[in-house]
Amino acid sequence: MFITSCGNSKQLAQRLARKLNVKYSPLTISAFPDGDTYLKFNTAVRGKDVVLVQSFQPDPEKSLLSVIWAAETAKDLGAKKVILVAPYLAYLRQDKRFHPGEAVSSRIMAKHLNSCIDKIITIDPHLHRYKSLKDIFTVPTVKLTANQLIGQYVKRRVKDPVIIGPDWESYQWAEAIAREIGCEHTVLKKTRFSSRRVASRMVKDITLKGKNVIIVDDIISTGKTMIEALKKAKKAGAKSITAIGVHGLFVEKGLEKMKKAGFDRVITTNCIEHPTNQIDVAPSIAEALVGKKR
Ligand code: R5P
Repeated sequence: MFITSCGNSKQLAQRLARKLNVKYSPLTISAFPDGDTYLKFNTAVRGKDVVLVQSFQPDPEKSLLSVIWAAETAKDLGAKKVILVAPYLAYLRQDKRFHPGEAVSSRIMAKHLNSCIDKIITIDPHLHRYKSLKDIFTVPTVKLTANQLIGQYVKRRVKDPVIIGPDWESYQWAEAIAREIGCEHTVLKKTRFSSRRVASRMVKDITLKGKNVIIVDDIISTGKTMIEALKKAKKAGAKSITAIGVHGLFVEKGLEKMKKAGFDRVITTNCIEHPTNQIDVAPSIAEALVGKKR
């Protein structure tokens, strides 16, 4: 087995290689003057399991295309198996045609990966209308979660916490993380007026006054969902407010806006490399790679 990255997730790929005591060999990926992709493996591939580590952020399209290029090349060079570790898998939120004529991007993404990858390992994929990754992937998949790691992180560092999920979809994270910590949780009901305008209200009332409120979500993109939840927590008299995201995308200056809105701390896992990374998912992925976690 050897581990490589396809442009993103280099630090995580190296951590995994160290943990598993296998070689990390980066690919050479560049572009010809006209923009055509150039990609080269720098280690012999024949007969080996090749692990491509690539979160689909930044630039989901380029990230996906690099994975396809690398996987096809690995197969062409005689790789035994190509395993994709995509801690953040993009496109899953577009899981239906919301308006006539729209692309169902998740299916298109999956179709391309099904054709060139032998196994996919991902963390907290955004499954909403899909019940399982099997709904779109024909190749074996492993769905890991950072819930336990987040719970342990909060337990070690925060006194008197309560967990808030900023929308009802986030109950799956809020509930599991609160259980791990042994504290109360609630979720908010979010109304999205557009991709950039959201408003939310608390579903089940719990006491936030004087509490260290931890708002958890799978994805922090523009940060607007988190900021809406922060407003509720502030109004309810929270002592401190922390945002924890599994996947920190922070597009459109999301982090700056969150800090300006009044978050005491913004924390993410290293599913996507970012200065806010504080929770390391490498141990879970390493276990899944050597077959202990299914
Ligand atoms: C969507 O339902 C996800 O779980 C997140 O809540 C969403 O992607 C966050 O987006 P934003 O940060 O742009 O509000």
